[in-house]
Amino acid sequence: MDALNALQGRVSSPRLTEPTPQGDILDNIKKAAFRAADHGRMRPWRFLVIEGQGLIELGLLFVKSSEGRGEVLTDKARERMVARPHRAPMIVVVIASPRENPKAPEIEQVISAGAAAQNMITAAYAQGVGAIWRTGAPAYDDLIMKGLGLENSERIIGFLYLGTIKGKVPEAPQPDIGEYFQPWP
Ligand SMILES: Cc1cc2nc3c(=O)[nH]c(=O)nc-3n(C[C@H](O)[C@H](O)[C@H](O)COP(=O)(O)O)c2cc1C
Repeated sequence: MDALNALQGRVSSPRLTEPTPQGDILDNIKKAAFRAADHGRMRPWRFLVIEGQGLIELGLLFVKSSEGRGEVLTDKARERMVARPHRAPMIVVVIASPRENPKAPEIEQVISAGAAAQNMITAAYAQGVGAIWRTGAPAYDDLIMKGLGLENSERIIGFLYLGTIKGKVPEAPQPDIGEYFQPWP
């Protein structure tokens, strides 16, 4: 797929299954992250690739954090939460790892990590791999951050769910871009 079709047509795929992206296809997704605009080429990011047993452990961590926030889970709700990471066979956790730099303030480094995430889901779409960027309460939860081994200065930018698309790929909506771009002055 050419670049413009990928950029203009990318859609999320919430329904994903095995197999996971592998080999060159997975490498292409990883390499795309590194072409995010990045002030000072700081590469202010790192990624955790979670599959198999890791998905089970992530589900248990989701439960621990939910209970840590004082939520009372029924057995059914607990089961659903343990199963949440299994909505895809692979999750890439995108982590912003900002460092001190007088020219690139923290917000710019966090934005760069977001751009890396966007590049990855676009590279997935371009190759026919399903992807959806999710956050929710777990992305901002101290217990999750600790459980995933984040430093205090790091933040979770998102959980990229990746896999083989189940069903049909929806068409991307085509908004009236004129509403969003105005000439100035
Ligand atoms: C930072 C961020 C966090 C998101 N978190 C969630 C989420 O937790 N759950 C969800 O269903 N969609 C989430 N989304 C939205 C989806 O990734 C997706 O963009 C949205 O469903 C629209 O679909 P589209 O990408 O095909 O236009 C998030 C998007 C961003 C950028």
